[in-house]
Amino acid sequence: MVHCTCSEAALATAVKTPAQARPSEQTLVEIDKVPLIGETPQTLLQNWLTPNPLFYVRNHFDTPEIEMSSWQLSVDGCVSKTAQFDFNNIKRLPKYTSTVTLECAGNNRSDLDPPAPGNQFQNGAVSTAVWAGVALKDILNEVGIGPNAREVLFEGADTGTPAPGESEMPYLRSLPIDVAMHPDMLVAYEMNGEELPIEHGYPLRLVIPGWYGMASVKWLTGIKVIDYEYEGFFQTDRYVIENDDGVWEQIKEISIKSLISSPAVGEELANQPTCVAGMAWSGNAQIKEVEFSADGGQTWQPATLTGPSERYAWQQWHISWTPPMAGHYTLACRATDQLGNIQPIETRWNEGGYVVNGVRPVCVMVAA
Ligand code: MTE
Repeated sequence: MVHCTCSEAALATAVKTPAQARPSEQTLVEIDKVPLIGETPQTLLQNWLTPNPLFYVRNHFDTPEIEMSSWQLSVDGCVSKTAQFDFNNIKRLPKYTSTVTLECAGNNRSDLDPPAPGNQFQNGAVSTAVWAGVALKDILNEVGIGPNAREVLFEGADTGTPAPGESEMPYLRSLPIDVAMHPDMLVAYEMNGEELPIEHGYPLRLVIPGWYGMASVKWLTGIKVIDYEYEGFFQTDRYVIENDDGVWEQIKEISIKSLISSPAVGEELANQPTCVAGMAWSGNAQIKEVEFSADGGQTWQPATLTGPSERYAWQQWHISWTPPMAGHYTLACRATDQLGNIQPIETRWNEGGYVVNGVRPVCVMVAA
């Protein structure tokens, strides 16, 4: 059973006409200015592609200043020959395009009760773009991976102090060698057909499809092939979650999730058939089914999947719902992917406030 957490009083004040509930919000919903953190407005969560200025942003440090005349990507470590690529060298490699949904591991953190510290994202730290660039494996093949290689470490041009007591450091994350060599891993220089915007990693960023956003290192300036397991701050201090056996595990693939993008929370609906629509995504496989409930999860019915179906992009869905009578309703959706992963009803609470993928109710009022 999915419980609407809005009290009658809160719902009454939240109830808005559709026009008020969905203004044409055309700016990022800012959570922090420096470093910039913002989420995609609710109204845009029904667009398959998110326009660049409204794509969520999650920066740990100030946006770096990039000087293209001296910019280089260095690739070294356990490789046959180290290399420095300038931007033209990168662009000479074969170009690939892929539509990829990125979700921050802390998306929906504000749903947690008790609250978990960190940016209090609602459900907008998820967005989708058509990314274009080169295959990471092509860069790695250019330098030749050494026999002892275990991981590949990626460095961003941004630096700062990530938490009190920590020293100044760049944004650094690693990937296991088999993941880095997978042909779908991109080093992107275009986003939705445009040059990468500075806040999304200009001139070059990783796009690691299927993984939570922290793996997609922006402002990429260094790639190092290493023969050990990297244990830096953003790898083992952040983006980790305790499993049922008390072991801390690194967060990797995006857990299955879905959302209702329309109607909005607290919206007042006319007593007539209503189109309920939303998105569903999973880092592990394509979406197979989305179910909809109008009674807080007591009964479910299949929704229709619409729009494009791509391996690494979210799936649009909708259903026509006819309210049986006037009153308050708790709408909900849940997704299943092709591997049989089912979205859980409840999120597993965790200290970091990560992987918040439980069913998220949308309370509405149907007018008499
Ligand atoms: N890369 C660098 N260099 N610095 C960062 O702070 N943030 C990461 C990742 N890559 C980050 C980074 C996190 S936590 C996320 S969720 C995604 O970038 C967000 O990408 P976006 O801002 O383009 O949406």
